[in-house]
Order: sequence, then structure tokens, then C-alpha cells
Amino acid sequence: MFKQIFQIKNSEKFEGQTVTAQGWVYQSRSSGKIKFLILRDGTGLMQCVLFKGECQEAAFLDFEKITQESAIEVSGKIKKEPRSPGGYEMGVQTLKILHIAENYPISPKEHGVEFLMHNRHLWIRSQRQWAALKVRAEVIKAICEFYDERGFIRFDAPILTPSACEGTTTLFGTDYFDEKAYLSQSGQLYGETGAMAFGNIYVFGPTFRAEKSKTRKHLTEFWMIEPEMAFYDLDDNMKLAEEFVEYVIQTVVSRKHQELKILERDLSKLENVRAPFPRVSYDEAIKVLDKRGVSVPWGEDFGAPHEAALGEEFKKPVFIHHMPSQIKAFYFKQCNEVGGPPAVKSNGRYALGCDLIAPDGYGEIIGGGQREDDLETLKLRIQEHGLSEDDYRWYLDLRRYGSVPHAGFGMGLERTVAWITGVEHVRETVPYPRMLNTLRP
Ligand code: 4AD
Ligand code: MG
Repeated sequence: MFKQIFQIKNSEKFEGQTVTAQGWVYQSRSSGKIKFLILRDGTGLMQCVLFKGECQEAAFLDFEKITQESAIEVSGKIKKEPRSPGGYEMGVQTLKILHIAENYPISPKEHGVEFLMHNRHLWIRSQRQWAALKVRAEVIKAICEFYDERGFIRFDAPILTPSACEGTTTLFGTDYFDEKAYLSQSGQLYGETGAMAFGNIYVFGPTFRAEKSKTRKHLTEFWMIEPEMAFYDLDDNMKLAEEFVEYVIQTVVSRKHQELKILERDLSKLENVRAPFPRVSYDEAIKVLDKRGVSVPWGEDFGAPHEAALGEEFKKPVFIHHMPSQIKAFYFKQCNEVGGPPAVKSNGRYALGCDLIAPDGYGEIIGGGQREDDLETLKLRIQEHGLSEDDYRWYLDLRRYGSVPHAGFGMGLERTVAWITGVEHVRETVPYPRMLNTLRP
């Protein structure tokens, strides 16, 4: 049996008992015969009170030495106190100083984001950052649960790869002994090999893109969850994606109330995220955008203002499907009419893709679609995209040995966490964001 150790998040179980807690000083103040400190132990915050005459005299004197973020050990009785952050407080009897912190750079006053990012290693101790990263951990857990419970096999794709998945303009290159290697932009192509071996799989890992864009939605290193399913078409793909998104949102909302409260997230907006989601073809979306005064010429990708307008129109996550093939990667199955037969050994007007746009400006959180499964057609597309057939020999083999319709998608973890937490920028949804001009700490 594990010894039950006191942690702030479990204070309720220790009401009326005398316990010892270890942690860091979040805040402190004194007023004559009574001194207060907020203790942070990693699991939560708790008010600790020292009354002159009731606590040890040494504790009362030592209190004067402690600074913000000093490490301490306090013992005392736990009681209910609605004014304490977690609802319980400690009446301190003894206080032991473990380490006196130097002048802590992050004070309760406002700091600029550049300063905070520079001190990211300390900033993660602050309440809002702490809460957002706890939500991230829960999102990861919910993602794995969803696929594990449905019998999908977790299938790890390599990070060091010899060829591109998502175009050659955002590749990070590195020397690989005597050859050139690239950091993976997506695990999809390897995921497809897994689907042919196991049926249903999911790749989950970091992906890299040399994005020069400085927006609230772009990182150069981000995590992607990529399920890939044999015998799935575009429709099956969207069904799985919407069930998945609903599961992740509802599971995390139900388990992370306290953290979402710290983040002041309006939960009514998330509770409303229920499948099915509206499905709109690219051509229909163009009309909606036109009506809303943010026109896009046919054949161009949607940007932030268009995604925001679609969010306002549908007030729910919305699928955009059948995009112009000219703006999509080489591996999509194509057709010339929405719902029409596939374009075989030729190019089609549309790609059988589906993107999921989150409401409130969080943008595209999922990109995916049905894959080209015909060998000759795929070879043609590889050529068209200026890629070398030789690099994709193993990928083409999937179309040589038991080729079947299959589909999959990739969900961006950080954008999903930004949406759930309501934080403005994806940089606050990952412990150490990597962006243009941000490599440290
Ligand atoms: O739409 P994308 O580029 O799709 C793929 O990479 C496919 N190969 C996935 C698949 O079908 N298995 O990227 C998928 C998602 C986007 O919808 C977005 O949520 C996220 O990955 N994403 C980014 N997130 C943060 N920063 C970036 N620079 C991102 N680029 C894509
Ligand atoms: Mg995309």
C-alpha cells in the first residue's frame, strides 16, 4: 500500500488532521500578529496562516526571511476555508526553510510577453500557464484513450526522414552522415504502411515545419495525432474525426474544471461541441465567404479571416471538403465533381480532403482525407509535384501489394489545446514553444 501523502489537491481528505507539506512560496504578506503565505506544491495552491502565539516562535521569525519561490516545509492542521485558493487552509505550527530564493523575476505585476517567453522555464510555475499545461496533458490522455479503446494500434513514425510529406518549402534539413535528412512534417506516409499492416493505427508524435509565418496558430515544432484507417473513405474519415473531437472536448471539460476555471474559459461554448458537425464543400464555402464579405478567388487556400467567418457562420466546428486539388499535397485521391467518380491516371479538379475548422478563430485543427490508392495515378502525381519516384518507392509498394481505399487525418495538438483552454496563442499550450526567432529556453 502506498502511504497517503498530503498534496494540496487532496486537502479535503486531510481536514482536521495535522500534516506536513513541501512546496514553494507563491505569495506572502504579514500584518502584525498574523502572517499569510500561499504555498504552491505543484498540485495546487493553499493558504497557510501563522498566528503569533499559536505557531512556534521560530516559525514566526523565519517567515520574515522567506521570499517569493523560496522552498519550504510547513506543518499544521488543515481546515476548510473558502477564501483559500483550493478551499482549505493550514494553521501553521512549524516552518522549515529549505532554500531561500533569489529575487524572483516574475512578480504578480504585468510583464510583457517577450519577457515571459524569455523566462518560460519559470513562467510555467504561474497559475494560468500551469493550468494550460495540465489541460494539455489531459488532452493527450483523452486522445490515446479514444484510439486505444477502439482497438487502434499506436504506430510510431520516424522523425528523421529522407523525403517530404507536405511539400518541400517547409522542410528542416540536417546532415545525416553522408546524406541529407529532414525532420518529419507528418507521420502520415509511414502511418499508411501501418494501416496496411494493422488495419487501424495512430501515429502520435512531434512534427516540424520551417514556417516563417508569425501568427497565433503557427509553431515550427508541434505535435500531431494521425489516425490512418484501411477501407475508409472520405465520409468514414469525417465520421471518425467528429466523434473523436467531441470525445476529447467533452472528456477534458469534465475532468479539468478547476484548470479551465483558472483560465476563465466559457464552458458553455465547449459543452455545445457535439457531433455531427456541418459539412460544407469548398465551393459552398466560397459562396458563404462571399456573402460575408470576405471573398476568396476559386483555387486559393483559406486564411485566418476566412476561417473566422466560417466559425461565425456555423458556430460549431465545420468540415470543409473537396478542396481544389491544386492547393493540396500529392497523395490525395482526386475527382472532377463533388461526389463523382475518381480521376484515374489524370488530374482531377478536387482533392478528397477534409479540414475541420474550429470556431472562434482557432482555425484549422484537422487536415486529412482519402488517399490515392492507384499505382499509376499516384506515380503521375509524384511527377507533377516535382518529387522523385525513387524517394517514394516504399510508399508506392502499398499500391502494388493489396492496395485498398484508405483515409486518415492529422489533428494539431497545440491548436486543439488553444481552443479548449481559450488561450490566444499556441505558444502557451506547449512547455517550450519553437517558433520563428524562438529557440530558447
Ligand atoms: O493539414 P496538415 O498539413 O495535414 C497533414 O500534415 C497531413 N499529412 C495529416 C494527415 O492526414 N495525417 O496538418 C494537420 C494539422 C493542421 O490541421 C493543424 O492543426 C496542425 O496540423 N498544424 C500546425 N499546428 C501548429 N503549427 C503549425 N505550423 C502547423 N501546421 C499544421
Ligand atoms: Mg492543412
